[in-house]
Amino acid sequence: MIYFDAAATSFLKPNEVRQAMDRAFDTVSSVGRGAHPPALAAGRTVLRCREQIAALFGLPDPSHVCFMHNATEALNTAIFGLIDPEDHVITTALEHNSVLRPLYCMEEAGAELTVLPADEKGRISFMDFEAALQPNTRAVVCTHASNVTGNVLDLQRIGTFCRKHDLLFIVDAAQSAGTLEIDMQKQGISVLCFTGHKGLFGPQGTGGICVSEGVFVRPLKVGGSGAHSFDRYHPYQYPDALEAGTLNVLGIAGLSAGLDFIERVGIAAIHEKEDRLARRFCEGIIQCPNVLVYGDWDAPIRTAIVSINLAGEDAGAVADALAQDYGICTRAGAHCAPRMHDALGTDGLVRFSFSYFNTEEEVDRAVRAVCELAGG
Ligand code: ALA
Repeated sequence: MIYFDAAATSFLKPNEVRQAMDRAFDTVSSVGRGAHPPALAAGRTVLRCREQIAALFGLPDPSHVCFMHNATEALNTAIFGLIDPEDHVITTALEHNSVLRPLYCMEEAGAELTVLPADEKGRISFMDFEAALQPNTRAVVCTHASNVTGNVLDLQRIGTFCRKHDLLFIVDAAQSAGTLEIDMQKQGISVLCFTGHKGLFGPQGTGGICVSEGVFVRPLKVGGSGAHSFDRYHPYQYPDALEAGTLNVLGIAGLSAGLDFIERVGIAAIHEKEDRLARRFCEGIIQCPNVLVYGDWDAPIRTAIVSINLAGEDAGAVADALAQDYGICTRAGAHCAPRMHDALGTDGLVRFSFSYFNTEEEVDRAVRAVCELAGG
């Protein structure tokens, strides 16, 4: 089997992730729910992971890393916890439904929404941010990288715009964490939402939100915090404020091991390898007839995604043929990003997404498979 669906889940993970989870199974219980050795071990595991996440994303205070189950939960928390019905929000056509749907809910509650358009290569124009500004603009919410095209947004530039106009900057790093450099302080990011199960090599059910100093996010959930049990209200200090209920400590142990791997190999080396594989694949398949490749391939920085269609063929049928006849796993369809497909003029694509653990030989086999299916 060849796995080219890393943008959905990094199914191929460093061995140490499995080993760390296995060890945790025998050693950790719940954080803050006791002072016995397994509870203390859980506390140390979670604290270490907070420190790793804070260091990775340039966040000075690790207590402002709050763990959640995925980027969707983090984005819902950020959007519902920071936006009010009288606000105006700017977002982009690149967004996943985990950004769009909470924003549509806020729109129904009275908020105004501007979705910056993308062109046929999935690019937005930076000038549109200035043009979209209104007196009640409160925030820019956007992805770092499109999960359909691999196009990357310039966080530095958008962050500078947000600083200049005193706007909150909420970033969806689901497709970029672990693969592209992120520095919340330097890039002016107010809230960063991440998932653990993609580029950070953790298991599903891990992820979270990183909140800059001075930003108060209303919690989506309140309840058990392990302390201050006689208080009527849930604690308002981070991380407890956004971590009601028992944490996924086994998952966080795995995520921490994934972060160790990233620290050891380095983000630049991970990105370089993934990018090389994606470009090799793209250069191979554009030689074949009837292959349409989407996205901005002139951009210097991209994530390792190549989305294609074969002229006249249904994307789902192509992905099924790749899986059944060639053992190649891809993801077909709209990838929960409907506005991106509207801009590209497609209603479905076959997405190949590459990881550090793929090989050139796998890429070359996939090129031959696509060419055969395309009739080349
Ligand atoms: N958002 C994930 C993807 O693009 C699940 O596949």
